[in-house]
Amino acid sequence: EVIVLETPAEAGAFVAAHIAAQVRREPTFTLGVATGSTPLPVYEGLRAERDTGTDFTRMSAFALDEYVGLPAGHPESYRAVVDREVTGPLGLDPARVRVPDGSAEGIETAGERYEAAIEAHGGVDLQLLGIGRTGHLGFNEPGSSFGSLTRVKTLTERTRLDNARFFDSLDEVPIHCVTQGLGTILRARHLVLLAFGEGKAEALAAAVEGPVSASMPGSAIQLHQRVTVVVDEAAASQLR
Ligand code: F6R
Repeated sequence: EVIVLETPAEAGAFVAAHIAAQVRREPTFTLGVATGSTPLPVYEGLRAERDTGTDFTRMSAFALDEYVGLPAGHPESYRAVVDREVTGPLGLDPARVRVPDGSAEGIETAGERYEAAIEAHGGVDLQLLGIGRTGHLGFNEPGSSFGSLTRVKTLTERTRLDNARFFDSLDEVPIHCVTQGLGTILRARHLVLLAFGEGKAEALAAAVEGPVSASMPGSAIQLHQRVTVVVDEAAASQLR
């Protein structure tokens, strides 16, 4: 299902209202959180839902990915972003908010440990996703296997340049990340893919309507039974 709304704020409020309704029915709901700019309007919407009485405090969360090797507490680490945008404001129990471990020590087991944590928890109910201009989901760049699980990956130069806006310089953008695999993402019970702005139009159209191919990681969503795509008009502009 593709839903086109006028602005990112409207899209965020729409998705947040859906999540809040689920959480009111099932307080131990598990949300898969993404980072980057795209999901921020959803988190704003969730804070508005909190203000009007939805209790999120029993919800759990699993993040999609994390940079490797940023110093602990770095404000642009995805752990810090999730804490700032979601855990703190919604009052989640920090013990129920998981982010892949991007610290250099033990990096070789970070993927396995994260998969085990998701599995022991019973999986993710709704996974929020953004899409990169390369078509990546999480940091699964073109060529990633549709069966892949959480593992260490190298960021493409395109993605490092795109993410440099969050750092003081390109040199500070990590080279590696730990990301859920496409196979991990496809196990979530509901996928919600968001995209805003013209810069995403081409990748979005290829993901939604193009051939299913490892050269377009976003096209993996076509293999899932329950996907909602929520976009603004600019991002929808290349859909047929
Ligand atoms: C973030 C993530 C990435 C982003 C994508 C889009 O956790 O995994 O796939 O969703 O890079 O980034 P933004 O939203 O900043 O355009």
